[in-house]
Amino acid sequence: MALAHSNIALAKYWGKRDAELNLPDVPSLSMTLAALSTRTRVQFDPSLEADQIVLNGSVADASTTKKVSAVLDRVRGAAAIASRARVESMNDFPTASGLASSASGFAALALASSAAAGLDWSSARLSGLARASSVSAARSIFGGFAYIEAGAISAAPLDVSPLARDLAMVIAVTDAGPKPVGSTSAMLHTQATSPYYQGFRDRAPAIYEEVRAALLSGDLARLGDAMEHSALAMHAAMLAARPSLIYWNPATLAVIHGVRELRARGTFAHFTIDAGPHVKVLCQTGDAARIRSVLAELPGVQRVIVSGPGAAARLLPSHEFVAPAPSQGSRGAS
Ligand code: DP6
Repeated sequence: MALAHSNIALAKYWGKRDAELNLPDVPSLSMTLAALSTRTRVQFDPSLEADQIVLNGSVADASTTKKVSAVLDRVRGAAAIASRARVESMNDFPTASGLASSASGFAALALASSAAAGLDWSSARLSGLARASSVSAARSIFGGFAYIEAGAISAAPLDVSPLARDLAMVIAVTDAGPKPVGSTSAMLHTQATSPYYQGFRDRAPAIYEEVRAALLSGDLARLGDAMEHSALAMHAAMLAARPSLIYWNPATLAVIHGVRELRARGTFAHFTIDAGPHVKVLCQTGDAARIRSVLAELPGVQRVIVSGPGAAARLLPSHEFVAPAPSQGSRGAS
């Protein structure tokens, strides 16, 4: 059984250089999150006629099954295994909340399936396997902070300054509203229709370098500023897509302004937003509890999760997987 943590990009990946191979168009850099994780168990079984995928206790839908089987096919090819597999996966955070689970999900799947097939792959190779399904998952193989360059096939860890190791992420889960468009189709749509995508793409490497340099030197003010710029530049490109991609709701804006107020009063707090309405606030560990109570009071904020940097994806004894009874008709990982 494998466990992998989710991650939040400080410098965003948005756009594909090669959609077939799933190669990122821009460099990105993320913090792995201790508080959000996926546990996945894989067993290859010659008696099975098809792959069986159970996510959070429910049989996976057709499109999720296809994506999971694609990972299993790569592993089967490398290990010369013909058997189908039973895959059980559980998130320790509510998938229905709309918090991204594809990063932790595909990282855990890459590690669990390769280990179940007897392959002892390096982190770089596991990251490449996860990346082929989801670029953000490539970063979740690593603990702490991780980056993936534009066009790269795998991510790598970044050894940051001690000051940066003391960072935390406060996640304000806001009203979900209608189900958001998934990040894969949303980024392809942005690339195809937004006149501002090229602007984001041109600017992304410099923003990434700034985030990276700030993490290495411990320049938190520069880090927070570059991180917000990355997220807002990405959302600006989405807003200009046709039809427009608007992930924000009133609570998203309430949190943005709440973070700006905290900052005006001298607290280190900067936000980032992914392909959903939730707001993730980067802060120092000592301020996290206070920021959490401020954000929890804002209109539309449903719950607040605090997380420090998480560890790398790892194998755990199989009995640590507590499988719920399967039921039909679930959505897959989001
Ligand atoms: C906004 O990694 O989910 O979270 O490669 O198509 O699976 P695919 O996309 P995915 O996109 C993540 C987009 C993001 C920014 C980021 O994590 O860098």
